[in-house]
Amino acid sequence: MTPAPRSPAVFVVGIGADGRLGLSQAAQEALRDAEVVIGGARQLELLPADCAAERVTWPSPLRPAVAGLLAAYEGRRLAVLASGDPMFHGIGRALTEELGPDALHVLPHPSSVSYACARLGWPVEDTQTVTLVGRPLGQLAAALHDGRRLLVLSAGADTPAEVAALLRDRGFGRTRMRVLEQLGATAERVVDGHAADWSAAPGDPLNVVALECRRDEGALRLSAVPGLPDEAYEHDGQLTKRHIRAATLAALAPAPGELLWDIGGGSGSIAIEWMRTHPSCRAVTVERDPVRAARIARNADTLGVPALRVVTGAAPDSLTGLPVPDAVFIGGGLTAPGLLDACWAALPPGGRLVANTVTLESEALLAGRHARHGGELVRLAVSHAVPVGGFTGWRQAMPVTQWSVTKAGDPT
Ligand SMILES: C[S@@+](CC[C@H](N)C(=O)[O-])C[C@H]1O[C@@H](n2cnc3c(N)ncnc32)[C@H](O)[C@@H]1O
Repeated sequence: MTPAPRSPAVFVVGIGADGRLGLSQAAQEALRDAEVVIGGARQLELLPADCAAERVTWPSPLRPAVAGLLAAYEGRRLAVLASGDPMFHGIGRALTEELGPDALHVLPHPSSVSYACARLGWPVEDTQTVTLVGRPLGQLAAALHDGRRLLVLSAGADTPAEVAALLRDRGFGRTRMRVLEQLGATAERVVDGHAADWSAAPGDPLNVVALECRRDEGALRLSAVPGLPDEAYEHDGQLTKRHIRAATLAALAPAPGELLWDIGGGSGSIAIEWMRTHPSCRAVTVERDPVRAARIARNADTLGVPALRVVTGAAPDSLTGLPVPDAVFIGGGLTAPGLLDACWAALPPGGRLVANTVTLESEALLAGRHARHGGELVRLAVSHAVPVGGFTGWRQAMPVTQWSVTKAGDPT
């Protein structure tokens, strides 16, 4: 439900490192008229001298305090300071969640990305941004592609060295790195170098890191679409192989923002490639073997999706309480009593279920479900050309039976 609009509107004023000099006329007026200004300590220090408002510093952690502070100043002329563009990884999100967009009057300032692109001569629309503020470093790996320009929003002074280490580890040591500090302030400075030999001491905590990605010679090339090479994974053989994996992801049909349950995670490849299709895609993988579960977490971090949730336990028992999925993949445990029924029951109308098996027993189960619910039953047989004496012949992998179905009542 959208919260009721407040009156008068709360002004949300973007401010840069240059303080009042960079403020628009409208922003200056909003601050002059305010009775109360809430902001970070650093931002409050930048306020124009003619702003006589009561100054209130955000506590830390900020998010849990937002509702209480807004309530405390309800009815007063309130301005909230934000660094740069309030709606870009800023306080604007929390304020809209609390008050609804109609209660806010947002006055944006150029974001750190606008400043960085201005300095670098990079078109903003060609520049992907990855934020490491409050997020794990490993997610940067999913954005690494040869020739790509990236801007990393740093968590602090140590971020550039951590980024350099990750780039070296993931085969991108040749990447040029420029650390842009204090953008828009008089103390603005750029530190230039390459990930392979990055040795700069930690500088200013306010920085963004500009990357021109270059893959090292011989490093594995990882595509943006499913069907990564099997060598991209650490595994013990329990891995849905590349061609079957690509076909499985096509059947699962991820869309931005959707949630997958990957049951019998093995090495985690289905959930990992689901999440790699879009940064907003989420997944939970359920794996009963703790050694494999730990391996899944390592693969997820290596391949840039550290937010993958790994549940160590056997399905169907471990499915209780998980958030409602948009799609379910069953790669293991098909014959476990109640598993298919539990997955089917958890799916909302329009949700997709895909199950793979190589055994006759599970295939019989899938044939029964296919007869009841419809969908598509296919057999995928992949053969690889291998040397036979001085010639070449086909070696066939075990054929995989795949049932994929969309639950009736598709809301679209
Ligand atoms: C063939 S592998 C799946 C491969 C996986 N899709 C991948 O690409 O890495 C099957 C996995 O299911 C797990 N498993 C089997 N029954 C299970 C159950 N009832 N609950 C959870 N995991 C199960 C096994 O430990 C094994 O790791």
